[in-house]
Amino acid sequence: MKIAETIQEVREQVKEWKKQGLSVGLVPTMGYLHEGHKSLIDRAVKENDKVVISVFVNPMQFGPKEDLASYPRDFKRDSALCENAGAALVFHPQPEEMYHEDFSSFVDMSTLTGGLCGKSRPIHFRGVCTVVSKLFNIVMPDKAYFGQKDAQQLAVIRHMVSDLNFGIEIVGCPIIREEDGLAKSSRNTYLNEKERKAALILSKSLQKGKALIDAGEEDVEKIKQTITEKLESEPLAKIDYVEVVDWNTLEPVEKVEGPVLVAIAVYIGKTRLIDNFIQE
Ligand code: PAJ
Repeated sequence: MKIAETIQEVREQVKEWKKQGLSVGLVPTMGYLHEGHKSLIDRAVKENDKVVISVFVNPMQFGPKEDLASYPRDFKRDSALCENAGAALVFHPQPEEMYHEDFSSFVDMSTLTGGLCGKSRPIHFRGVCTVVSKLFNIVMPDKAYFGQKDAQQLAVIRHMVSDLNFGIEIVGCPIIREEDGLAKSSRNTYLNEKERKAALILSKSLQKGKALIDAGEEDVEKIKQTITEKLESEPLAKIDYVEVVDWNTLEPVEKVEGPVLVAIAVYIGKTRLIDNFIQE
């Protein structure tokens, strides 16, 4: 497996593969890889001749008061995981390689990004769309893999790819959870023992909401109330949002009719966690 720190190295390698008629899959990540990331890599390895993983903590998608400096990093472990999973290339650029001093072009979206995580993280999706566009232009993959864990991000990327004609197939992958139900996340490492236990309230409250919908409840207010009450039963939890939105437009709905995304963001202590499910 190759490790590339420069854009040129990646371009040359991919050009070589394309000349040989090989297909290329891309898995964009910010590193500190876990089973969730690995599920994306495994799928990409199955579906493509060559797989590129990017490991880049993208400064542009972090707000000024967010956790850019403390975001966990362990490139040695990450590259070993990628190699064992069968990746062909890891792209691990320094921020200066991605953003030169006079960098001034951004990819922004006027729909899909105002609600859910976009409300409390106003510059986040501009940073995500910009870096993912750059990665798409650098790697030029046939397929790119994103987790449903970040459901809004998945919807935003799909929309961007369609709007801007990237010609890349976006593959959405299911949420991988710990045995007790907590969605795997690099940010789970911030939780102390007490908080780790408290964090279970996210998946538990969603399970309660899902059971209600499965039993035939269509009234979104009632569903949100049930989830909210469950979350509020945990003293360490502070709700950022509980939302039920149309899975295609991410606009709020009043009734569960077509496919909906039920999504929550909750602070456990200082750590902001997200979780969701899609009701088809
Ligand atoms: P990161 O948080 O490292 O996640 C990389 C990819 O792994 C995302 O597509 C995310 O949805 C997926 N993922 C994370 N946890 C998962 C889980 N428990 N189950 C399934 N998939 C999971 O998302 C980003 O990085 C960045 O915003 C990025 C797209 C790389 C742009 O910087």
